[in-house]
Amino acid sequence: MKKSIFLLGFMGSGKTSLGKELAHYLNYPFYDLDSEIENATGLKVKEIFHSEGEEAFRMYEAEQLRKFNSTKEPFVLACGGGTPCFHHNMDWMNQNGWTLFLDVPERILAQRLEGQQEERPLLAGLKGISSSKTWRHLLEKRRPIYLQAASRLASEDINLNEVIHMLNS
Ligand code: S3P
Repeated sequence: MKKSIFLLGFMGSGKTSLGKELAHYLNYPFYDLDSEIENATGLKVKEIFHSEGEEAFRMYEAEQLRKFNSTKEPFVLACGGGTPCFHHNMDWMNQNGWTLFLDVPERILAQRLEGQQEERPLLAGLKGISSSKTWRHLLEKRRPIYLQAASRLASEDINLNEVIHMLNS
């Protein structure tokens, strides 16, 4: 049976770019959960965090996620970095498709996140060591939840071939 795919991982782990390639390869539609939230609310993720706060954002996120249930035609969904960690979303995804954790080394995440703080509401206003301390702490808290995914790909450069290999094995 064809299963939908939920891509999980920390900010900067490449969920959206890999998700697009994977969806194209499988001929599935691709969705990005942050974009779904933005379309539904008419607000940018950044604006939601700023004007309504994280709790409201997590409500929208859980609500939009639940539209991607197993009755929908198979799809690839790139989740937000925090999606698995709230409102029992991890269990829900495991029940509604195949969950894949993109486990990118911290060294690579550090390169990707540096200088991007202003685009990332949870790191906004932080620089250098304080930014790095904040995201590393968050990652440490989230990792056990990410590890509840059905599968995990750990490498410096997670690419489509690796995912295809995993799907076929
Ligand atoms: C978040 C990650 C973001 C976005 C929001 C919160 C998080 O998505 O959902 O800013 O909690 O890690 P990306 O992982 O696509 O950057």
